[in-house]
Amino acid sequence: MLSKIQGLLEEIKGLQAASAQELEELRIKYLSKKGRVNDLMADFRNVPNEQKREIGMKINELKTAAQDKLNALRQALAVREDDGLDALDLTRTPYPAPIGTRHPLTIVRNRIINIFSRMGFTLADGPEVEDDWHVFGAMNFADDHPARDMQDTFFTDQNAGILLRTHTSSVQSRVMEQVQPPIRVICPGRVYRNEAISARAHCFFHQVEGLYIDENVGFTDLKQVMLTFAREMFSPETEIRLRPSYFPFTEPSAEMDISCQICHGDGCSLCKGTGWLEILGCGMVHPNVLKLNGIDPEKYKGYAFGMGVERIANLLYRVRDLRLFSENDVRFLEQFTTAY
Ligand code: DAH
Repeated sequence: MLSKIQGLLEEIKGLQAASAQELEELRIKYLSKKGRVNDLMADFRNVPNEQKREIGMKINELKTAAQDKLNALRQALAVREDDGLDALDLTRTPYPAPIGTRHPLTIVRNRIINIFSRMGFTLADGPEVEDDWHVFGAMNFADDHPARDMQDTFFTDQNAGILLRTHTSSVQSRVMEQVQPPIRVICPGRVYRNEAISARAHCFFHQVEGLYIDENVGFTDLKQVMLTFAREMFSPETEIRLRPSYFPFTEPSAEMDISCQICHGDGCSLCKGTGWLEILGCGMVHPNVLKLNGIDPEKYKGYAFGMGVERIANLLYRVRDLRLFSENDVRFLEQFTTAY
């Protein structure tokens, strides 16, 4: 019996396995219920009592040795698999890395910037905490204009005449005091208004302002640039419509509509049956504005426009509630993907 155990031990020590399947076959052959090691138990019953202790220990040692041997073979196999050419890729991330997405307002703003930069506009900016002069005075607002009212504008407590800008038109003035025409700038930025927060209004939002000043600039230039913008932003079939309006800083002034992107003019719920969607304000720069900002209105003319980024994002993405843009809920934010 002892020599049988010894023989089996030698045999097990010499085992080799070239694959997981071979390894499994060895396990069945030696260590399963009907395997060679368990077979010894049948013989064990016939061993005289005085030898049972010694032989029992030997059989246990054999079992452990067989188990150890198979474990060693299993480890060797795993290492060999990892040694394969592409098995070990040190550049791989250990787990899928979550990739962030751009904020929808950033996507829309970047698209606006992209369209106007291809038409020769450069970027300009100014402070969000502004003075009364740049926001209102230099933009030809009368002293008693309602926009100057506390109800619409956030003033600072401590500094008279310092406020949160209510529109990016203030950057027009910042640019004109720095450079003489020709001027071709767009000014993206955040603006603030004293509004109750709801699905349709917020106390801050974003605008992109445009200013073009040169000799011999006419309303047709404005119209063509606006048409090009609308078709690049929405679709090549988009039509525009300019309606007379009033802004203190432009004369004449207009509000611009684009043909409805859903019904293409037939009338639907998005355009409330009109076939048109309002997207921006624009006009020819008022001569007073040029004068107030040190530019000769006899020599130069210009046009300006201002649009709300949220408004355009809403038309593109149909976001129902303005508050979603500033709540930073990733379930909302991760729905927007684009190359910009
Ligand atoms: N500042 C206007 C607003 O906040 C938008 C605007 C209208 C800007 C006409 C302009 C313009 O430059 O010409 O509602």
